[in-house]
Amino acid sequence: MKPTFQLPNYPIWVGPLAQTFPAWFESAGYTQVFLIADAETRKHCLPVFLQETGLSADVPGTTIPAGEHFKNMHTCAHIWQDMLAAGLDRKALVINLGGGVVGDMGGFCAATYKRGVDFVQIPTTLLSMTDASVGGKLGIDFNGIKNAIGLFGDPVAVFADPIFFNTLSDRELRSGFAEVIKHAIIGDAELWDQLQQLNDLRAVHWPSLLKASIAVKVKVVELDPFEKDLRAVLNFGHTIGHAIESYFLNTDTPLTHGEAIAIGMFCEAELAPASTRLPRTALAKLLRRFFSFRTIPVEAFPALWELMQQDKKNTSGKVRIALPDAEPYRLHWLEPAFVELERSLTVYEDTIKAGL
Ligand code: GLY
Repeated sequence: MKPTFQLPNYPIWVGPLAQTFPAWFESAGYTQVFLIADAETRKHCLPVFLQETGLSADVPGTTIPAGEHFKNMHTCAHIWQDMLAAGLDRKALVINLGGGVVGDMGGFCAATYKRGVDFVQIPTTLLSMTDASVGGKLGIDFNGIKNAIGLFGDPVAVFADPIFFNTLSDRELRSGFAEVIKHAIIGDAELWDQLQQLNDLRAVHWPSLLKASIAVKVKVVELDPFEKDLRAVLNFGHTIGHAIESYFLNTDTPLTHGEAIAIGMFCEAELAPASTRLPRTALAKLLRRFFSFRTIPVEAFPALWELMQQDKKNTSGKVRIALPDAEPYRLHWLEPAFVELERSLTVYEDTIKAGL
C-alpha cells in the first residue's frame, strides 16, 4: 500500500497497522528486531501491536518505566545494555512502541547505538502521532531541561494507527488534541473550521483528522527540517506552555503537555499583534471547550519568566515566542518583556474568573 506521506528519507502510514506494517516489514528483510516499550505500552499496546502485525510475542526488547521523569541518561544506559545483551548488530531494526518519550528516547538510543541502527516509530498516543514521531527530533532531558541532549535522526518509517486511542484516557487524548489545534492554526483553514464543530473526541473520525494534522507537520518539516527558522512555528504555545508545564511538574497536580500548551497558546495569542490575524477569540473558545484552565497564582509569574530563560529558541539572552503569521506556513517572532507575560497571564486569570 502506498504511504500516506513520503518524506525525503522515510514514509509515514496513517491507518490500520494490519494493512501496512506486515508488508513493509517483510519487504525490508530485517533479521533482528528489538522492541522498546514502556511499562504501560507493554501492557496495553503491545498486545494490540502483535495482534495487528502478526509479530511473534517473544520479540526481544526492553521495557522502561513510563513517564517524562525517566527520559534521561540512566534509562538510556538501561536500553543500550539490553541492546548489547540481545547481541544487536548494526543491521537490526529497533521498534519504538509508545508515546513521545519512547519515540524520542528509543530513537536517540537507536541512532547512537554502534553509530546508528535503523528504527521505526509506532506512536501510540495522539500527541506522538501528530507531532513527536514526525520530523526526526530525538533526545532526552538533562539537568532539568527538556530535550537538552539529542540530535536529528530519521526513522526508516512511521506507522500511525488510531486503534491505540482505545488505550488512552480522555485526558491523554485531549493532551494530543492541543497539537492538532496548533497545526490547524499554522496551516490548514479547513481543518480549523472542522475543529470548531467538534465536541466529543471519542466521536471523531480519526484517520482523516490525523492525516490533515500530520500533513501540516510534514510540510513544515519539509520546508525547514533542521529548524533554521520556520520550524519554530511548531513551538506556538510552547514558550509559555513549557514554563507552565515545568512549574507544575513537581507539584501534586502536574498538567499534561497538552493542558500546558493550551494555556500557552491562549497567553501567546493574547500577545500576538493584529497583523498576525490570529483568531484569538475563536481559539480561546475552542480551548475552553476541551481544557479546564488551571489558575496560575501571581507569585508564580516570576518563576515562569525564569523558566522561559531556558527556552531553546532564545538568542542573545532574549526570550522569543514563535507565532503563526497571517499567511499559512509563515512565522512571526515576538520578543516579549516580563510585563507582557504578566499581562497575558492576567487576561488568562480574568477569563477564568469571568467563567468565559
Ligand atoms: N515538536 C516540534 C517540532 O518537531 O519541531
